[in-house]
Amino acid sequence: MNILGIESSCDDTAAAVIVDGKMASNVIASQAVHQQFGGVVPELASRAHNKTIWDTADQALQNADIDMSEIDGIAVSQGPGLMGSLLVGMGFAKGLSLSWQKPLIGVNHIDAHMYANFIEHEEVYPFIALIVSGGHTRLVHVTAPFEQTVLGQTRDDAAGEAFDKIGKMLKLPYPAGPEIDKKAQTGDPKFADFPRGMMNKGLDFSFSGLKTSVLYYLQDQNEAFIKQNLNNICASASAAITEVLVVKLRRALRKHNVKHAMLAGGVSANSMLRQKVHQMAEKEGVEVMIPAMEFCTDNAAMIAKTGEMRLRDGMTDELDMKPFASIR
Ligand code: KG4
Ligand code: ZN
Repeated sequence: MNILGIESSCDDTAAAVIVDGKMASNVIASQAVHQQFGGVVPELASRAHNKTIWDTADQALQNADIDMSEIDGIAVSQGPGLMGSLLVGMGFAKGLSLSWQKPLIGVNHIDAHMYANFIEHEEVYPFIALIVSGGHTRLVHVTAPFEQTVLGQTRDDAAGEAFDKIGKMLKLPYPAGPEIDKKAQTGDPKFADFPRGMMNKGLDFSFSGLKTSVLYYLQDQNEAFIKQNLNNICASASAAITEVLVVKLRRALRKHNVKHAMLAGGVSANSMLRQKVHQMAEKEGVEVMIPAMEFCTDNAAMIAKTGEMRLRDGMTDELDMKPFASIR
């Protein structure tokens, strides 16, 4: 089965082809235009998607050495995301579906982050996924394909958002997650004692207290101190975020007696998180799936993979399918 995937929910225009479950191509046109603003500007994102989507899809087909006539289904990110951005991808996918008479498959972007793991790992159920991206932080119990219960989620900022906002305070370029990760690797995670939000309570998350605590901490220091200890501050903030994430994942696994865990979303690229999850899994006797780096942040291979799973189960969509902005 050959699936073309289209992703345009935020600031990456991406297209990919999955052939019999495996990645045949994965093309991403990232939008540099937002960097100067320290965050994604929705209207600029839509315009950039509009400009590059055709070439990106064309490139994905070429790289996979496949013709549109050989494609069995067109999968597209339906939401959550920026409405203008989603509309560009969806309009494009609908046009292709109509003109080539191929099934159209709407894919939930958050599901896709999870199922990205099955590009390289064998499909296995049940599992508990820790989904940590720029916009969302969730623990999900998945018992069969697309049969899932949300166990917990963030009450304020998402984990990626916490990284990005703390990075902004430290004057690091957007998105700051990867930069903080790099600096943290040579820093002392015990240097500053930042709060672990809702650590001992339930399966929901809260990162706004941490953000405020870092802000106050930085206000109390002079610039030279911050510059000199940037790596230590990055490591300490990373430790506060990742510790909570791993403790909650472990709590969910124990509570539901599940032996398979999964990381998903942009923040699963974080080296401290990956390391801590591996350590926890070993101690608990749990198998853990972590996506390859290229499938952690937004990409279209995850959309194509999830599309393939939906098509397999007969879950296709009509041309009146509408994108949705908020998480479901
Ligand atoms: O999943 P994603 O690409 O987009 C959304 O769907 O939101 O996640 C992007 C988020 C950003 O907040 C970015 O800072 C964060 O993932 N991120 C990281 C790392 N790589 C990306 N955060 C921490 N460490 C990283 N290595
Ligand atoms: Zn994403």
